[in-house]
Amino acid sequence: MKIETIAVHGGNVVTDQLKPVIQPITLSTTFKHQEDSMLYTRLENPNRKSLEAVMSTLEGGADAAAFSSGNAAGNAVFQALPAGSHIIAPDDMYHGMKMLLQTVYAGKIEVDFIDLTQSEKVLQAIKPKTKLLWIETPSNPLLKISDIRSLASIGKENNLIIACDSTFATPIFQQALALGADLVMHSSTKYISGHSDILGGILVSKEKNVFWESIKNVQKLAGAVPSPMDCYLLTRSIKTLPYRMRAHSANAKKIAVFLDGKQEVEKVFYPGLPSHKGFETARNQMSDFGAMLSFLIKGNADEADSLIGKLKYFSDATSLGGVESLIERRSKVQANDSSIPDQLIRMSVGIENCDDLIADLDQAFKATF
Ligand SMILES: Cc1ncc(COP(=O)(O)O)c(C=O)c1O
Repeated sequence: MKIETIAVHGGNVVTDQLKPVIQPITLSTTFKHQEDSMLYTRLENPNRKSLEAVMSTLEGGADAAAFSSGNAAGNAVFQALPAGSHIIAPDDMYHGMKMLLQTVYAGKIEVDFIDLTQSEKVLQAIKPKTKLLWIETPSNPLLKISDIRSLASIGKENNLIIACDSTFATPIFQQALALGADLVMHSSTKYISGHSDILGGILVSKEKNVFWESIKNVQKLAGAVPSPMDCYLLTRSIKTLPYRMRAHSANAKKIAVFLDGKQEVEKVFYPGLPSHKGFETARNQMSDFGAMLSFLIKGNADEADSLIGKLKYFSDATSLGGVESLIERRSKVQANDSSIPDQLIRMSVGIENCDDLIADLDQAFKATF
């Protein structure tokens, strides 16, 4: 099956004698005791099973585990590690996940935040108790590209588990398991949902091994699972994921070029621009570049806010991956992070007509500068 066909059919299970074409939502929390059925919805639910099946097939994995948020999915990986483990994570890891490691896991798990684009730094950081190498590519919000293949080979030589947060890429543009990762993680709140109305996370594993069983245990026993309704909606959203991603990415490319040509813009961070440091690596490991970009204006935070305030079609809001375009001055969310300049603007490019988006940006630039 090709990816579009998997997206439409991979999560649809006939669970009903009437044979509805679309799988119903099974809200029941419990199931009558019988062989080969389900027991209790925290452990298993037909809609969650369908979501996990389609995501696992899309990523080319052996199994998947769905969670109630992206952070809950990451948390399940950290919780499944032996106490006292050491993790290597990106220096620009998604800030919410970084905070999770720095606060909830303080004193329980040791973490080094490293620039993963420099492999010698990764090698230097490995210790006898290092268990996990966490990659995030493209990264949030600086769109750094880490070379999954080469990091995975360093990881394998040193017996590490390789996990990759592929939220910005989705399985449509990046197949991290085929590139050597053991686990892929998504905040399904983003492109997988695609409509900014569901919070969710998902892990896909290349193998059903002992570590994966520990993760499934965290899912079932700690119970941060998505509701059947959310699983149903995510499975529905996935049916259009390949087409949405193409539209998102086509718009983002045009907007990146537009911004790159603006004299009021200092720098554009988009891996699809040949001037981007990670362009070649992105081209080698992604089938397209995605729809997240950041840019620095030649101006201060007030001017960045003023530009954002003049836009009609870009909502000034955090998050990403919905069909509607979003924009924000990132340090409003990531305050106290010295790596994020005050005038850095992050954009999640939607699937509106790109001419409208560019005209909107153009008028906002003219009115601001
Ligand atoms: C790259 C990345 N990973 C993980 C997360 C966490 O996902 P969630 O907000 O669904 O918990 C986010 C959220 O913005 C993200 O951007």
